[in-house]
Amino acid sequence: MQFTINGHAVEVEADVRTSLLDLLREQLGLSGTKKGCDQGACGACTVLVDGERINACLALAVQYQGRAITTIEGLADEQTLHPLQAAFVEHDGFQCGYCTPGQICSAIGMAHELERNVPSVVTADLTAQRIAFDHDEVRERMSGNLCRCGAYNGIVDAINATFGR
Ligand code: FES
Repeated sequence: MQFTINGHAVEVEADVRTSLLDLLREQLGLSGTKKGCDQGACGACTVLVDGERINACLALAVQYQGRAITTIEGLADEQTLHPLQAAFVEHDGFQCGYCTPGQICSAIGMAHELERNVPSVVTADLTAQRIAFDHDEVRERMSGNLCRCGAYNGIVDAINATFGR
């Protein structure tokens, strides 16, 4: 199977029954994407496929051949955190951190979904467009990502600080 993962062409042999999550974690060593429930209920496994967020535990890797997949490892460069990662640090958007990669990928996907509804601010950039939304809308749109520590206020604050206006 061939993919573009975090900007790099990747070719890997895998059983056609392999989930995208297991391919990333077990075969490619990209363990930043977490396995929580493994059945689509927690959002810990969220990654971006061509900018759209998906639960990698529910996806067969074979379905996503040829697509551009971004995981948490693909957001920062060696020197600089992605603005949303920095905002999570600044706003205490985590406690144990297990859900954080999924929360961050999901929030970036959410911002892209909103951009599609606001054509004047559309870009293909994964960084940040500033979009008007309120606290409740963020909570609703991020409801697929659970945080067992209950760091939701910090998570929403970080998302608003990055993408809100
Ligand atoms: Fe995929 Fe929970 S591990 S949604």
